[in-house]
Amino acid sequence: MSDRLNDKIAIVTGAGSRGPGLGNGKATAILFAREGARVLCVDRVRERAEETVGIIRGEGHEAQAVAADVTRASDCAAMVAAAERSWGGLDILHNNVGIESRKDLLDTEEDEWDQVLAVDLKSMFLATRAAAPALAKRGGGAVVCVSSVAALRGHGRTAYAAAKAGVIGFVRSVAAQLGPQGIRVNAIAPGAVWTPMVENLGPEARERRRRANALGTEGTAWDVGWGAVYLASDQARWVTGQTLIIDGGITITTREGSLGAP
Ligand SMILES: NC(=O)c1ccc[n+]([C@@H]2O[C@H](COP(=O)([O-])OP(=O)(O)OC[C@H]3O[C@@H](n4cnc5c(N)ncnc54)[C@H](O)[C@@H]3O)[C@@H](O)[C@H]2O)c1
Repeated sequence: MSDRLNDKIAIVTGAGSRGPGLGNGKATAILFAREGARVLCVDRVRERAEETVGIIRGEGHEAQAVAADVTRASDCAAMVAAAERSWGGLDILHNNVGIESRKDLLDTEEDEWDQVLAVDLKSMFLATRAAAPALAKRGGGAVVCVSSVAALRGHGRTAYAAAKAGVIGFVRSVAAQLGPQGIRVNAIAPGAVWTPMVENLGPEARERRRRANALGTEGTAWDVGWGAVYLASDQARWVTGQTLIIDGGITITTREGSLGAP
């Protein structure tokens, strides 16, 4: 590894995985640590955060677990305070948390809409608002928010697409506001990566998703994590307000079988 995040202090939200296997947050937390960052692994479910911390420590790197629900302002403030208390500051906030909804417009209940918007979009606002003063104190930093190609393509998944499109608008607005303080804010829009979040789709959908992109290969959480490493690192010092699409080319092709996109 190349120590691209040496001496950085990072928070990764949703740093656990909901099932066996590797989610985007978990892979990103592991890569951040391998690149030299100290990583606060935040998850609503403490054991999930602890599992990721165990992997990172097992590789000889530094991490801590914090249980927090990032749809709550008080929990977001507490996670930032925990990073400052443990390591003296904050340089990177990786807003990874998200839940899916696969319902079309007429099937989407109001409660589900509210929940998806709260977890996928409001959490990014609350966490970024809590972290910005801490990042500014260090002379700047990086915020990375996980969107989805669902924000860019016409599909079902009404609430999910709306929330993930909101993430891109949020990133552009906040990047313009925080730029003068040296804080960069970017989004990643992953395509159909195979993670515990989509395992319930089953093997046929998995194969359809693989075939749907231009490369015809399956994306993994590592692919998303490497994008986050770049955007969080000083190598991206002049990149802000952007959306990095990591999707094997699904957004530039109309191949058959694309119905299984995330
Ligand atoms: N898998 C895909 O194909 C795909 C594609 C595009 C985007 N994404 C996005 O990637 C992100 C992460 O996906 P993943 O694979 O890591 O999912 P995952 O479900 O495996 O992990 C997410 C973690 O977030 C935690 N979490 C959920 N709500 C939380 C909350 N309110 N506060 C704190 N923690 C909470 C869960 O406990 C879980 O451990 C999501 O934003 C998702 O929308 C995934």
